[in-house]
Amino acid sequence: MLDTEFSTIASVGKLLDLPRAKLVNGITPLEAMPNLSRICGGANLFVKRDDSMGFAFGGNKVRQLEFYLGEALSLNANTILITGAVQSNFVRLAAAAANKLGMECHIQLEERVAKEDTYYRNSGNVFLDRLLGATIHSYPEGEDEEGADLHLGEIAAELSAEGKSPYIIPLGPGHAPLGALGYVVAARELLNQMVQYDIEFDEVIVPSGSGNTHGGLLFGLRALGSELKVNGGLYSARSRCPISKNQATL
Ligand SMILES: Cc1ncc(COP(=O)(O)O)c(C=O)c1O
Repeated sequence: MLDTEFSTIASVGKLLDLPRAKLVNGITPLEAMPNLSRICGGANLFVKRDDSMGFAFGGNKVRQLEFYLGEALSLNANTILITGAVQSNFVRLAAAAANKLGMECHIQLEERVAKEDTYYRNSGNVFLDRLLGATIHSYPEGEDEEGADLHLGEIAAELSAEGKSPYIIPLGPGHAPLGALGYVVAARELLNQMVQYDIEFDEVIVPSGSGNTHGGLLFGLRALGSELKVNGGLYSARSRCPISKNQATL
């Protein structure tokens, strides 16, 4: 399942040497958003549909997982460990990727929000995590990245003692941001689509949490010679439209 050819990103040098597990199915559409553009005062908005990847409901973490799981396979790991919020998309996609690649998956769900209802704890991504065969562990502290990573390390040590070969996808800073490479690949894809559709964007806007999406995209664009601005941010659900006129979204 390893893809080390990288034919689509041939001009981004060292990436050619890194292992990658193929999860993204083709390229994702670049879709015009005329209704949203109207609401936002006429800005010409497009969305890069990374939700429509044909893999476990898609999302930005699929591209990132290609590089984490690629490294895991190259190290002969057979068990993936990941930590995240109870309803984390990253965790759900890691469970799906591990399942697809025939690996075991242990997920640690952190208590980040004060919600106790059974739907929050059992529906949506948690339901899918279980359906995908992941083993669920609980971590009571929310917003304690270092503690969550340490606890994940303890679970990994137990799995090693059982003879398994675990690979941790870490949460906190201080680790190689391998996932960002997925968005270096996306930068190339976006630039190709801009040429294909003859569109010149003023700016790309990305939601930013760990910064892997934002940093990878920015690096990829610059490495490929583009000066396109990349604006990352977490936007308030109460603001009607955070995007000013003449900007374009990824
Ligand atoms: C759907 C979605 N978009 C964006 C992000 C943020 O991405 P990043 O962690 O690469 O900054 C997340 C992270 O949890 C996410 O689940």
